Amino acid sequence: MRYARSASAVLAGTGVVAAVAVRARARTSSIPRVAATPAPALPTLSFADTVRLFARVLLPTIAKGVIIRRPAMVALAERLELDRAAVETVQRLRDVYPEGPLLVGPVLGRRWAMVVTAHQARRVLEQTPEPFATSTLEKQAALQHFEPRVSLISDGEARVQRRRVNDAVLEGHRPMHEMADAFVAVVRQEARGLLSAPGAPLAWNDFAPAWFRIVRRVVFGDGARDDHQLSAVMARLRAHANWAWMWPQQPRLRQKLFDRITEHLARAEPGSLAGLLARTPCGPLAAPVEQVPQWLFAFDPAGMATFRALALLASHPAHLDRARHEIAATEGRARRELPFLRACVLESLRLWPTSPLVLRETTRETRWANGAMPAGTGVILFAPFFHRDDRRLPFANRFAPEIWLGDQRPEVWPLIPFSLGSGICPARHLVLLLSTSLIAETIAAGGLRLTDPSRLDPRQPLPGTLNHFTLAFTRIG
Ligand code: HEM
Repeated sequence: MRYARSASAVLAGTGVVAAVAVRARARTSSIPRVAATPAPALPTLSFADTVRLFARVLLPTIAKGVIIRRPAMVALAERLELDRAAVETVQRLRDVYPEGPLLVGPVLGRRWAMVVTAHQARRVLEQTPEPFATSTLEKQAALQHFEPRVSLISDGEARVQRRRVNDAVLEGHRPMHEMADAFVAVVRQEARGLLSAPGAPLAWNDFAPAWFRIVRRVVFGDGARDDHQLSAVMARLRAHANWAWMWPQQPRLRQKLFDRITEHLARAEPGSLAGLLARTPCGPLAAPVEQVPQWLFAFDPAGMATFRALALLASHPAHLDRARHEIAATEGRARRELPFLRACVLESLRLWPTSPLVLRETTRETRWANGAMPAGTGVILFAPFFHRDDRRLPFANRFAPEIWLGDQRPEVWPLIPFSLGSGICPARHLVLLLSTSLIAETIAAGGLRLTDPSRLDPRQPLPGTLNHFTLAFTRIG
């Protein structure tokens, strides 16, 4: 086994180094000091493996657009099978350095650690936010463009209060949101328009506007249904956010977004998240208006996952039959849980995770079986590796919704489309509710035929990338 213990100072960005050091000091100053016994450093990637990790795993993932997808880059990733290559690269690193976490760098001005085993992933997610903070420098650089006080990039008491507002309104604790009836009614109305012409094509450009009408109505109520400008402003700010530090922040445009959100929230429409937010007690640090851009932004990947789940069902007839039965058996019921459809959406997210990089930052030195990880390290959980590791998971590259029915078996852990632990997505149930409701409406209306079924041939391993921008269907009447 070869461990290169010398750091490869690739692209060292000194401003970032200083920022990491200052944050690590600030975060550790309140923690009582334990007698420090020097521990060996964790295995460190060789220079060649560091370059491989950045070139084949991180750069392609970032180039596709972390905050808003870049269609040309997604198309390139699909054509060159970059996501499959990324998983294979991490598998190879795990073979060479099986113990992990693997220290990397300094690269881009800081140390990184790549998590390659399930029990290390569990520790990082369970020990969030201390010592593994959700707020990392990279997330801050990106999210500050449009939501500088969102919970995900907050620390301490501010994080507690902001996360509490999100949990209260999005209802992360219950599978069926208290406003489920109103939300499902919105989905039904919008689906009618979307699916009204049997035989007509249905592409992403037809689906996305209908999806965002649903999103605006769920978040703000009917008064925001046609506020396309709001979505356009969000899209511009998100495009800047893709570049993080490399694009100057636009405070006036951001303020325009907050003003628009504030106007919509002021109506506090019953049956919308805005109505619920108005009734939710907020602490002085909660910044409720600034939690809302995250809601608008994060419903975009939910739309992608829904569209891909429709493609999976359209290409897997036995699963489609099971879905039809579930929909027919629950027709007319007030609150349908649709567990099989939920599992299909979760599979869409396992196969093509919309949050491929789950990042944490260590607030102090952490000790592991085989060494120490310094404070201020950026910890990387690369979800596609855990989800598609065909050496561990017999179902890695096929559509296997059954794995989501019942408890997640320990041997398949960690499947983390919505993350896990205290940083888990507070909207996971809400996403699944809207997504499954739209799929149910689509199937009940006759269903969809995939224009090019060869893209998801069930006899072949499913592709590492599925470009949702170019998926196209025909509506069956
Ligand atoms: C397919 C759709 C979605 C997926 C896959 C997803 C996934 C995730 C993941 C992986 C995280 C953790 C990120 C991290 O630790 O860096 C997260 C956090 C979060 N998500 Fe989602 N999300 C989705 C949709 C949504 C929606 C629609 C909302 C709001 C309506 C939302 C609200 C949030 C919030 C507020 C956080 C931050 C939680 C915290 O501060 O601890 N998400 N989501």
